[in-house]
Amino acid sequence: MNSNMQKLYIYYFSGTGNAKRIAHWISLWADEMEAYRIIQRIDQPLEQIEFPKHQDDLIFFISPIHGFNYPKITLDFIRHFPKGNQKVILMNTRAGMKIGHWITPGLTGIAFMLSAFWLKQKGYTVIGKIPYDMPSNWISLHPALNTNSVIYIHQKMHDRVRTHLERLGNGERLLLSRKDLIQDILMAPISFLYYFMGRFIIAKTFYTSPKCDDCGLCIKKCPVSAIKSVDGKPFWTVHCESCMRCMNFCPQKAIETSHGLLMLTTVLYTFSMGFLYQMVLNNWVLNPFLRFIVSNLLFFILLLVLYRLQHLLLKFKFTATLIQFTSLTFYRFWGRYQSIPDKVWKHKM
Ligand SMILES: Cc1cc2nc3c(=O)[nH]c(=O)nc-3n(C[C@H](O)[C@H](O)[C@H](O)COP(=O)(O)O)c2cc1C
Repeated sequence: MNSNMQKLYIYYFSGTGNAKRIAHWISLWADEMEAYRIIQRIDQPLEQIEFPKHQDDLIFFISPIHGFNYPKITLDFIRHFPKGNQKVILMNTRAGMKIGHWITPGLTGIAFMLSAFWLKQKGYTVIGKIPYDMPSNWISLHPALNTNSVIYIHQKMHDRVRTHLERLGNGERLLLSRKDLIQDILMAPISFLYYFMGRFIIAKTFYTSPKCDDCGLCIKKCPVSAIKSVDGKPFWTVHCESCMRCMNFCPQKAIETSHGLLMLTTVLYTFSMGFLYQMVLNNWVLNPFLRFIVSNLLFFILLLVLYRLQHLLLKFKFTATLIQFTSLTFYRFWGRYQSIPDKVWKHKM
């Protein structure tokens, strides 16, 4: 890599710090190479973002994977990225877990394929598609990883990033193997389902427990301004990317995932909506695809109504306590996740 001529543009989106950590490691490496680098968060107004100007500039995009794709904010950023002819490296952070000394791989899905397609249309050359299995932050689904596992994964991924940067520096291209590609293509149907439906459902599972002291940090820190104050309490709108920033950074650990609400919606949907669907809709919604859409819409409408009701019930101590007992995230062992700064994990090694 000709460090004297090149500028490195590092664009990243990060919910809980993993992608930010990778961006930081690249920028440290650039400093060592005495290469000029610009590191920029993409969750800021487009006018404040500096774009590459010279053909020799090298561009990095780094973002977590949400539902086997990049989150909407990253996809929108790449889609609106100006035309150019530079080389691009696509990176992602996925859900890594530790079993013994093995870090289980996450799944990229269509993130690289879709972004590479758009970037090629704009004139760019994609020379790298690299996933990093950082500690999973999806704590609505599973308890947070323990500190030792988090440190272990950080250290391994740090070494991986360094190796990859050296190989890229030597002019290598780091693209996906055929096996990875097939695996990613197979995830495509689920990634579409998540993009068009799943993410809206997940957005409606967050709420604040009575521990919330109305500090407003979640509203302020949300990268997509998806949290509003309704009746004096944080309320998650469908714009939420489920990036987990709010939940993991809340100083009071007052943000929970309402597993109870999801269960209740599913049960009510199965009994009442299922009945309505059989009696009324079945006769005129014959197309299986249309049936699928209508069923999911009904589920979502029910969830919206129940979410609003839950928000009202959270005002009362008794019902709020009841709701928080139905949230797995409420229990102490579940924990929270944030990527840890280098000085912390290096110190503990
Ligand atoms: C809503 C949501 C969906 C996710 N979907 C995937 C996925 O499809 N595949 C995967 O490997 N990891 C998935 N993850 C895990 C994150 O991509 C992973 O933990 C990432 O490193 C987080 O990066 P960040 O700290 O920069 O936000 C998901 C996480 C969340 C919160």
